Amino acid sequence: MLYSDKVMDHFNNPRNVGVIDDADGIGEVGNPVCGDMMKITIKVDDGDHINDIKFQTLGCGAAIATSSIVTELAKGMTLADAAAISKQQVADELGGLPPAKMHCSVLATDGLKVAVDDYLKKHGREPISGEIKTSDPNFDPHADEDEPHDHDEACEL
Ligand code: FES
Repeated sequence: MLYSDKVMDHFNNPRNVGVIDDADGIGEVGNPVCGDMMKITIKVDDGDHINDIKFQTLGCGAAIATSSIVTELAKGMTLADAAAISKQQVADELGGLPPAKMHCSVLATDGLKVAVDDYLKKHGREPISGEIKTSDPNFDPHADEDEPHDHDEACEL
């Protein structure tokens, strides 16, 4: 499996790792199939902009790299723009992901969506994120792959 230099950079030197103690919003999600988990904490400025964000990911290399790039993308964004970050956008920012690892980016985008909605709900506002794929017990992380593969083998690193 070939990762881009940028994926390897974010895997080896992940940005914004940790937990914000007095976070305004918290998102915790798990991939029901591979068991990987992530937590995103955010601080929100003026009710609409993410001014700080940190993550903790227990997962494969692609999950860590995608979590890292998502925090870089989201910092300074409005809540709506952050919640709209797609897994394709994440993959593009990383110079591409192997098809068998595309699903891993859902963990990071879903974690961010949950954190945004957590902030909005705590402030009596309507959630904006819509569908959270990883919360669906029938979510198949490999559904959009071209070739069926052995899950254990494909999910290494
Ligand atoms: S997120 Fe589970 S294998 Fe990548």
